[in-house]
Amino acid sequence: MGESKKIILTGDRPTGKLHVGHYVGSLRQRVELQNSGSFDEIYIMIADAQALTDNADNPEKVRQNIIEVALDYLSCGLDPAKSTLFIQSQVPELTEMSFYYMNLVTVSRLQRNPTVKNEIKLRNFETSIPVGFFTYPISQAADITAFKATTVPVGDDQLPMIEQTREIVRSFNHIYDEVLVEPEALIPQNESCRRLPGIDGNAKMSKSLGNCIYLSDTPEDVRKKIMSMYTDPNHIRVQDPGRVEGNPVFVYLDAFCRDEHFAKFWPEYHNLDEVKDHYTRGGLGDVKVKKFLNEVMQAELEPIRERRKAYEKNIPEVYRILREGSVKAEKKAAVTLAEMKAAMKINYFDDQELIAAQAQRFGENV
Ligand code: TRP
Repeated sequence: MGESKKIILTGDRPTGKLHVGHYVGSLRQRVELQNSGSFDEIYIMIADAQALTDNADNPEKVRQNIIEVALDYLSCGLDPAKSTLFIQSQVPELTEMSFYYMNLVTVSRLQRNPTVKNEIKLRNFETSIPVGFFTYPISQAADITAFKATTVPVGDDQLPMIEQTREIVRSFNHIYDEVLVEPEALIPQNESCRRLPGIDGNAKMSKSLGNCIYLSDTPEDVRKKIMSMYTDPNHIRVQDPGRVEGNPVFVYLDAFCRDEHFAKFWPEYHNLDEVKDHYTRGGLGDVKVKKFLNEVMQAELEPIRERRKAYEKNIPEVYRILREGSVKAEKKAAVTLAEMKAAMKINYFDDQELIAAQAQRFGENV
């Protein structure tokens, strides 16, 4: 029993507010999965301990962003009645598991992780990489396996972490006993959702580049950002032919718009292909397309803003939700850890056979 359950675990580092790239890349899908009713358990984690692996000198930043991320989660429609929302550091079993998993992974294996490699470069760590940062894929394996997650909805930069987790699971189950479950990553089908560019056309949306649209932006901020968005630089006059591939406005439309948006906001067209054709032929101006994108995104973000407003009025309730979730998450992780320790034969005090055998060995009467 238990092993055939469908369980989700995923999470985010609390290093900033979440943006629309997070939304189409993972958050929206999490809410759909939650509401599909086809999962037995759902855990959504705010990965503060992981955030500290490269913010050791800035715990205040992590602390401030926990509530931001929690508000983003709740306002997107993650429902504490259906999903357990919790804070990583409040489940100390995860740290303990990580310590044992470290014995199952080599330094060279960690060095090959492309996401970690890339992050090391981005952070200019060079030779001064914190050990905790270097080993975070191992701690991520603990996050996933502690809950016996079968499904991990993530952005595609996280695929190497899932692969590393699967290797640890196989190795643990092979050496000790079949305790752990091999997870599978779930990434959005739609390519544009996987790589939403910044509003400046940069491939990545990032706080430091100042090119994000945040879920918590006001309608006016969102409108301004969309109207200033980078498009095809060669599409100068309306009659010029334009390029849709790699054009951020069209990548965003691919990620956000649905056919019903046309009837509502732009009845001259029936679907996005018609708009793309017209833009490619020439004769369709950027402003018109951006205005439509603005309508579509405002429609998607409006219910998120409304929920956010309600939760912002009750911040103690948000902390209560996280606290309750963390207690629940710890209970589950403790069960898995106990099974792991039994498999590893480090459950000395629960092992009556061990105690009896040792007593006999030392010649005591039992
Ligand atoms: N690494 C993820 C991020 O960058 C956060 C995270 C930590 C996570 N542990 C996880 C994601 C386990 C999925 C599963 O945001």
